[in-house]
Amino acid sequence: MFRRWSEKAARLAVKIDGRTIEARDGDTVAAAMLAAGIGHCRTTAVSGMPRAPYCLMGICFDCLVTIDGVGNRQGCLVPVRAGMEIETQAGKREAGQ
Ligand code: FES
Repeated sequence: MFRRWSEKAARLAVKIDGRTIEARDGDTVAAAMLAAGIGHCRTTAVSGMPRAPYCLMGICFDCLVTIDGVGNRQGCLVPVRAGMEIETQAGKREAGQ
């Protein structure tokens, strides 16, 4: 569904839910997930419905993920770096998790 418009950026590896994917230097976490075909970042606390990045500019909060053990990070605002460990979120997170 999503295609990159440039293939020139350096490649790096990140883990998403334990699976290693190839991202590009300069990708945000949300962009890397979409490019890898990962359909959602989180599920809602009330209905459990999956949510995917929507605005890609820090407004909608549908891109919340856990990054290196820190929950509720906005994936669209965080650039990937090699070795980053990303987890999709299920339901709500408590403060400090
Ligand atoms: S995609 Fe909307 S806040 Fe990240």
